[in-house]
Amino acid sequence: MSSIKFDLEIKFGTQYGKEEEEAVLKVLRNNAPTSGDECIAFEKMYAEYSGAKYARVCSNGTTALFLSMIGIGIKPGDRVLTSPITWIATAAAPDTLGAEVDFVDIDPVTYNLDANQLEDKLTPNTKAVLPVHLYGQACEMDEIMALSLKHNFAVVEDAAHAIGAEYKGRKVGTIGATGCFSFHEQKNISTLGEGGIILTNDKEIYERISLYRSHCTRVHGNSTKYCKLDEEKFPIGKKFWWQDFDDCGYNFRMTDIQAAVGIEQLKKVDMLNQRRIDNADFMTENLKEVPGLTLPTVLPHNKHVFHLYPVMIDPKEFGMTKEDVIYDLLHKYGIKVGFHYIPLHYSTAFKNRGFKKGQFPNAEKLGDQLITLPINPRQTPEALEYLVKSIKAVRS
Ligand SMILES: Cc1ncc(COP(=O)(O)O)c(C=O)c1O
Repeated sequence: MSSIKFDLEIKFGTQYGKEEEEAVLKVLRNNAPTSGDECIAFEKMYAEYSGAKYARVCSNGTTALFLSMIGIGIKPGDRVLTSPITWIATAAAPDTLGAEVDFVDIDPVTYNLDANQLEDKLTPNTKAVLPVHLYGQACEMDEIMALSLKHNFAVVEDAAHAIGAEYKGRKVGTIGATGCFSFHEQKNISTLGEGGIILTNDKEIYERISLYRSHCTRVHGNSTKYCKLDEEKFPIGKKFWWQDFDDCGYNFRMTDIQAAVGIEQLKKVDMLNQRRIDNADFMTENLKEVPGLTLPTVLPHNKHVFHLYPVMIDPKEFGMTKEDVIYDLLHKYGIKVGFHYIPLHYSTAFKNRGFKKGQFPNAEKLGDQLITLPINPRQTPEALEYLVKSIKAVRS
């Protein structure tokens, strides 16, 4: 019993094996560089896996979003739209560059930003929209991309939850101007707890992102190209060269040890995702008859990779509030479930920016009723059965 409880307390993350251990040691024995051959190999492999032209690794999903905002040229005063149901990083990336952030309510079926409500929120000043492929299911990208062409805004996909997810046969993160992924410890694959990558098909955006990721030096990957400062004083071909900085940038780089682990994780991602899909099928099969629960709907054109398994609890029909379910599962059965997310406009950060309860009713209903279940690939069949039994038991 105790080992089952232990499995359930491990939450949402990936699974490592001896391949990752060996990869770490190999890079360690090579003095553990940063932004070297392993990073370049991981970028190439990720771009090929996804079907994108360019990929650039970075320190985490937050910096992937922030660099994307720089890449598409977001400036103070620009308007940027996203979903109120996301991690704060999605909204913070444009906000910290001085943009005005507003939200579009979610679709009540998929919980993703509702493409049907997007057009009403656009103004001539709207420069970007950040759809979030929430819990591992793609947003309605055809509708969003059609509006982006009509109204001339950039689309930056937040694909932090959706490594390997597909929309109409295309990998997410390759449809908008950029796609941003997180390799945080709880994501479908991880690069030792932190990490991120940006995909794009646009060479200019890629170069801008690459510059700002590393202090705006003219250094790409592991090839060091110094810029001339004063050609007369230090003629080309002679021994004097000077490093130049195009602008003031950042250090948002990834290390080679992380990238080497990323390569091994990427080799396994489809297998790990399949385990999540199988676990989700098991949950759906076993919970579908329980009154008061709304289980996830997968749209037929989507490949959902179940970063999380969301369940809505109707307090009247289920007989308990979400908070009571979370409390009882933890204290009676040792199971820690999540609640992703509290709507962002409830946070102090966005209340201070003028948002109020009542503005996004679908997001608010989700905030009141949704829990997320741990169905990561580390879960054993016994642990999943225990999870199902415990959810049924809290109701009775
Ligand atoms: C939807 C979403 N976007 C962005 C991020 C930020 O990623 P990171 O934690 O790697 O900075 C997260 C992380 O939880 C996330 O869930």
